Amino acid sequence: MNRRDFLNSARAAAALGALTLVRAGTAAPLDSWHTAFHEALPGKPWLTGYRTMAREQLQAKATWHGKAPGLRGTLYRNGPAGHEVGGFRYRHWFDGDGMVQRFAVSEDGVAHLGRFVRTHKRVAESGAGRALYPTFGSRVPNANPVTKADVVNTANISTLIHNGELYALWEAGSPHRLDPATLETLSVHSYSPQTQGLPFSAHPRVEADGTLWNFGYVSAAKRLVLWHIDAAGTLVKAAALPIDPITMIHDFVVTRRHLVFLIPPLHFEPGASSATFLQAHRWHPEHPTRVLVVDKNDFSRTTWLELPAQWVFHFGNAWEDKDGFIRFDGARAPDPSIMFGRFRDIMRGQDNGAGAPARSFNYVLHPATGYATEEPLMAAHEAGEFPTIDPRVSGRQYRHVALLTTQPGQETEHGHFDTVMLLDVTSGHSVRYTYPAHEIAEEHLIVPGDGGRFWLVGTTLAYREEKTRLNVFDGKRLADGPVAIATLPYPLPLGLHGKWQGVG
Ligand SMILES: [Fe+2]
Repeated sequence: MNRRDFLNSARAAAALGALTLVRAGTAAPLDSWHTAFHEALPGKPWLTGYRTMAREQLQAKATWHGKAPGLRGTLYRNGPAGHEVGGFRYRHWFDGDGMVQRFAVSEDGVAHLGRFVRTHKRVAESGAGRALYPTFGSRVPNANPVTKADVVNTANISTLIHNGELYALWEAGSPHRLDPATLETLSVHSYSPQTQGLPFSAHPRVEADGTLWNFGYVSAAKRLVLWHIDAAGTLVKAAALPIDPITMIHDFVVTRRHLVFLIPPLHFEPGASSATFLQAHRWHPEHPTRVLVVDKNDFSRTTWLELPAQWVFHFGNAWEDKDGFIRFDGARAPDPSIMFGRFRDIMRGQDNGAGAPARSFNYVLHPATGYATEEPLMAAHEAGEFPTIDPRVSGRQYRHVALLTTQPGQETEHGHFDTVMLLDVTSGHSVRYTYPAHEIAEEHLIVPGDGGRFWLVGTTLAYREEKTRLNVFDGKRLADGPVAIATLPYPLPLGLHGKWQGVG
């Protein structure tokens, strides 16, 4: 099968997989989760982070509390924000329509703009006044047929800034191109006619020279699509590798020579009882996590290794030494139960804490000999997620990742991350700052500064005040707390990932 046949079969199978979901999605009850969530909200004010955003767009300016940080640039964040459509509330946090938040940072403060991505799905459902399509984790009554993945693309996971363009990313369809100033949705982006509509994950890796690597999984076709795009945004090569059994692959790492994927034993096993895409997956802890190492120069050159069964949403970074040892870090959970438990229950206002949390691990691979090991970087009782890195060392030797965690031994009423940590992956040493009570931390980015200086920039939801804050830390004095805080006059829904665009 040549490359075009590979890609066409992947596209066709993706459409077939979606159709299977539609047939299974005709019997969902209406409104019970909507009612349950809104009844729970007064007693659990942190659920504010999961309310649906009623406005299509919102805009405000905020001045600094503290010293203006001497930082200029723009943070673009994305996340599910349209959790309800016409009285129907989605059954999973990952289902809501994506809303991109733009925080323009200057000496004067922060200018915020938030705007929903105008996906096909959002436009169609807004017009109809009801949910029309099945989603990742929800059955929708009387759903419309799905002819291709981008019909149900929610553009709700992350942003990408590449070759001067801003994109909103999902993981099972195309990037949406946005106006970086107005956040207007401009197009559903295609890198070539042959690859139109193929999945482009929300976690592309961009090297310091602008070279972009990405992937996407096509579950029904059991294919992993690989992308190599140059700094000018031109497709260099794409391929579709057979992966059987296949799972949801959310993130990967790159080194100077290789792409590395962990393929956990959460197998895609659609059957007559499969109600949603999520529920079409079965956890097989008796199987290993397969590790796929791909040659960047020739996608057909692959090596397979094995690690114990585990689930990793996110990796920090990776590098490869002169002897061919690949070293990387990831937020490792023993299983994917949090995706089936907490991230669903929270949508009906329940929080029983169901699901195993992740914590940071170091990994070492040696593809030439099959050597693969892992070692925890955090104690067993600690949690760590949303690792981010200095973009200048993407795919190169590195020391630090920024993470979210919790204060050891301290229960919070909200049960979310409240602490930002800078972790040295070479020593395990960490520096932390814990936010005040009633404040939930979201992903924090490492932003390069002048002369070895760096910043940590991240948002928090002060849910009792119903306000979202942007916090800026001097990266070398994290424990001292934010040097500057800008507080928006409204709360934003809790989001997922973002990217920083510097000035000049
Ligand atoms: Fe992610």
